[in-house]
Amino acid sequence: MPTPVIIDTDPGIDDAVAIFCALAAPSLRVLGLTTVAGNIGLETTTANAGRILSLAGVDVPVIRGAAGPLARAGFAATDVHGNDGLGGVAMPDPVAAPRDGAVDWMADTLTSHPEGAVDLFTLGPLTNLAGLLERRPEAARRLRRVIAMGGAVDERGNVSPRAEFNFAADPEAAERVLAAGLPLTLIPLDVTRRVRARPADTAALRAGPRPEARAAGALIDAYFLTTRGGDSRPLHDPCVVLLAEAPQLFRCETRLLDVDTSDGPDAGALGPGPHQVTVAMGVDGAAALDLLMRRLMGQ
Ligand code: BDR
Ligand code: CA
Repeated sequence: MPTPVIIDTDPGIDDAVAIFCALAAPSLRVLGLTTVAGNIGLETTTANAGRILSLAGVDVPVIRGAAGPLARAGFAATDVHGNDGLGGVAMPDPVAAPRDGAVDWMADTLTSHPEGAVDLFTLGPLTNLAGLLERRPEAARRLRRVIAMGGAVDERGNVSPRAEFNFAADPEAAERVLAAGLPLTLIPLDVTRRVRARPADTAALRAGPRPEARAAGALIDAYFLTTRGGDSRPLHDPCVVLLAEAPQLFRCETRLLDVDTSDGPDAGALGPGPHQVTVAMGVDGAAALDLLMRRLMGQ
């Protein structure tokens, strides 16, 4: 039986690739997309979630979540993801209007499924999950597992020397999630930077048999134009789906961590602390990329 999963997301180029992969994964059944401000503002991430579903021809709800972080001003990543959040890649309009109330929808969905049945994948700032823990803690305890892309453990950051974007965008939310004792697996930059696409991969995707493959190729090509990184680019958010699908490709460790919630330049950075967290610290990057390519191609 496929695992039912809620995807919390701020699309976002790599969010879109991750969602296409999840929709194609035989071990997963996507129940809906909850949205959060992150890579770009909430109205755009919400519209993009609908556009991604429309392109994939999948009819599940999109539910608007937090318009900004818990306790500070937000910042966007339009320099990386483009003014439309999806690198200017053409996608059809959403088929259905989004709903409001991501936290309540998450809680109601968890309550209407058996306890320990539903996974949550987070691909953006952790504001919605922090809201669920605050407002509907009994529902949060029903989660089977949370897999979250965020943070940099031994690796350098991508928005400051030590901070990663999703954690830096809402450090207080990240801290609350780490402190909550949920069945959480964290996917930091330490592994996402090891799963990389090259131009030959995007060319193969662009010639692929499915609209999702062709869109993913165009999305990653757009990411090549806005970022530096030699002849390859990291695929951050897809690693969440790949860990769920093929945990044997990843090496997880238990670390004692905390989140920097200061106002300093490394706000959102991970450091040593009291919270015991399962963290993916190693990956077979070639095998993970191969699985992603196959899923996007519909294999
Ligand atoms: C994370 O930040 C965002 O820009 C990406 O979508 C990903 O979730 C990587 O640091
Ligand atoms: Ca993201």
